[in-house]
Amino acid sequence: MPIYHRLGTVPPKRHIQFRRPDGRLYYEQVFGAEGFSGPYSILYHCNLPPQARRIEEHPPLSVQPWDEPVQRHHHLRTGALPAGGDVIGGRHVLLFNDEVSIAIARPTEPMTSFFKNGTADELYYVHHGEGVLRTLFGRIPFRPGDYLVIPRGTIYQLEFTTSENCVLIFEAQGAIQIPRRYRNEYGQLLEHAPYWQRDLRPPVDLETHDERGEYILCLKTGDRMTRYVLDYHPFDVVGWDGYLYPWAFNIYEFEPKAGRLHQPPPEHQTFEGPGFVICSFCPRQLEWDPRAVPLPYYHSNIDSDEVIFYSGGNYAARRGIGIGSITLHPRGIPHGPQPGTIEAALGKRTTDELAVMCDTFRPLRLTRVAAQIDDPQYPYSWLTSEQAP
Ligand SMILES: [Fe+2]
Repeated sequence: MPIYHRLGTVPPKRHIQFRRPDGRLYYEQVFGAEGFSGPYSILYHCNLPPQARRIEEHPPLSVQPWDEPVQRHHHLRTGALPAGGDVIGGRHVLLFNDEVSIAIARPTEPMTSFFKNGTADELYYVHHGEGVLRTLFGRIPFRPGDYLVIPRGTIYQLEFTTSENCVLIFEAQGAIQIPRRYRNEYGQLLEHAPYWQRDLRPPVDLETHDERGEYILCLKTGDRMTRYVLDYHPFDVVGWDGYLYPWAFNIYEFEPKAGRLHQPPPEHQTFEGPGFVICSFCPRQLEWDPRAVPLPYYHSNIDSDEVIFYSGGNYAARRGIGIGSITLHPRGIPHGPQPGTIEAALGKRTTDELAVMCDTFRPLRLTRVAAQIDDPQYPYSWLTSEQAP
């Protein structure tokens, strides 16, 4: 996050004594990526950060792969996934590889414990629902269309104030960042970037709880979950500052690029992560040349698998998909508009589509949960009505 941010009270210099009103010390924690070479923040805690009364096993959040014997396109009807659970235990992982996993959650229950992903940055895309992301760095209110970027190691709770909720969740084995090509050497967003620092929302209200009790912190490291029983509230930070913290960005703040002819997906890039990119397809003007074809051409992503989550509007290039659908167009097979959609789109000047795309550079595997919501007819949707059986 290329903005210095500070909340609460911090001492005038690093690594000096910082005391409570009663004279006891606060405990300084450097929270940093890439050893001591990456972005970091410095936090001041009321309690010793490693303290735990008990460390216990917790059932793992294991993922069962679906090894299909053929390579084909997929359409996953996520609306058929059952709602339930909280936003951690209620995750339905649909696709994964060693670098990223993609899940849907439709939580109906509040989180009763605190959560920390110890190995993966998390990115939520809020399809339905509102609430507040509570973290040890402070609070971030969220609404539909928000991306919530949560660095690994962040203790948080996601609280919904709505009853119908749906989030798309990416777990990345590394940093989810603003693309390097959007930033100058100082970290500032460049003029050509599709969003700017003012669009990014850091935590606003620091919650400092200096109280005793019993608090459960669930730590996820890979598939393994560990239950930490603490005797202090984990949001015990009185102040922090630095460059590493959770933040939000709403998809409607993305400034889409339009051109005389079709603009390729990299123009829609929003984030980069280890082995993948994330793009936002937002309502926008379409190509204005009278000869323009305002839909994507057929393409073979020979080195990537393409996942699209359809969040709103009408995605004119696809037939048969609906709001909340996910398509997977894997490597090895071309894809593009279904029959008749190009002709129907000629002359269109605007689109109201809203979609989130993730292209991975290593093959994705589907899960058994994905198999249950797979539309087996989708790979045949490029046949014309005369060809269809
Ligand atoms: Fe594509």
